[in-house]
Amino acid sequence: MRLVILDDYDLASEWAAKYIRNKIIQFKPCAERYFTLGLPTGSTPFSCYQKLIEYYRNGDISFKYVKTFNMDEYVGELMQREKPESYHSYMWNNFFKHIDIDPANAHVLDGNADDLEAECEAYEQKIAEAGGIELFVGGIGPDGHIAFNEPGSSLVSRTRVKMLAKDTIVANARFFGNDLLKVPTMALTVGVGTVMDSKEVMILITGAHKAFALYKAIEEGVNHMWTVSAFQQHPRTIFVCDEDATLELRVKTVKYFKGLMHVHNKLVDPVLSIKEKHLGIKTESKPRPRQDQDI
Ligand code: PGA
Repeated sequence: MRLVILDDYDLASEWAAKYIRNKIIQFKPCAERYFTLGLPTGSTPFSCYQKLIEYYRNGDISFKYVKTFNMDEYVGELMQREKPESYHSYMWNNFFKHIDIDPANAHVLDGNADDLEAECEAYEQKIAEAGGIELFVGGIGPDGHIAFNEPGSSLVSRTRVKMLAKDTIVANARFFGNDLLKVPTMALTVGVGTVMDSKEVMILITGAHKAFALYKAIEEGVNHMWTVSAFQQHPRTIFVCDEDATLELRVKTVKYFKGLMHVHNKLVDPVLSIKEKHLGIKTESKPRPRQDQDI
């Protein structure tokens, strides 16, 4: 497990975006070999998406040969995908419409499907047909849920219908004019097992309100009441957090991982972008920032 600690939300978002950028560039996606990316919604990934859009506009990356699978979507007759609060709308407005991804390759669960169970099964099937997920990026709730895998969810769960926990409904009310009655109570979500099957998982955790969840995620045992803790058993998990999110961790945990930042920062060193490749620029010609400044 890696724990990457940045000073604040903006730097954590930038680090995560650079990591995703590098992964896509290094994978060398093409028509025969798509890069498959799992994605979250919510306030946490917002700045990361902004940075990825910037890298796309700079010509550093393309999403032409990227397939995405979102983690979850609300269910409910009043929650059509066109509604601004739906995760379809979130993804389209904050990310997809600004990049060159083929909309047919940007998958979001359909919470209005006639047969929700069939929709979930088909989603798992689509992920399998895409060759599995290369990198699943996730966020968590203050109760330690990953996607909508609420406390008590099976840690080997697959994509399915879930009833939302009261804590989640309260936390998400801010997107519904703080009216608890307007927050959908059901959702479709990938399972913990679905995310565990990914080759790599990167979880973004920022803010003091997530500090207890981060502590439960990494310093205590695997526990289905804190579903994010399951990723202790994934061979390649990166937690990217800000200082505020570390407030409940032991000093020695924080010191240990901060002492590894020079190693972690190598992962986000600039790599040859598609634009530079096109222009025949060598990587060595790019000024390399000092390790301690590379974020
Ligand atoms: P947030 O939501 O990024 O808006 O805090 C994350 C989540 O509940 O999974």
